[in-house]
Amino acid sequence: MTTWNLNGNQKHVLICNGSSCMRKGGEEVTQAIRSEIYNQNLDFVVHTTRTLCNGRCKDAPVVIVYPDGTWYGEVDKNSAKDIVGIDLEKGSKVAELVCYLSTEKGMELQNNRTIGKSKERLTQPAGKKV
Ligand code: FES
Repeated sequence: MTTWNLNGNQKHVLICNGSSCMRKGGEEVTQAIRSEIYNQNLDFVVHTTRTLCNGRCKDAPVVIVYPDGTWYGEVDKNSAKDIVGIDLEKGSKVAELVCYLSTEKGMELQNNRTIGKSKERLTQPAGKKV
């Protein structure tokens, strides 16, 4: 187990390593992002984390960048490098890969991606405020 000092980090990249993403190249995407971050000398400002399923398997492989809240889908090892160069380094989006953007209205689907199942409840759980 490792405890990283994250002081000064500016971006956090969540790389899905769930089963659907791994079947579609998630390991190659993980390695490509991490080596490009290293090559671009961004490893002191960008932290990466492998995750389990993020619930958007239709978009696999999925990569999420925070604090912006940008969800990328159908990432491959080449477009993974674009995410590093365009998003992490320059602060822009790789527009064609975006699944969801965080906006002031909440997350918004982009690029005609599959909407997916809606979360439904008849009542809010006690004590939960939305
Ligand atoms: S396995 Fe990656 S979103 Fe489901």
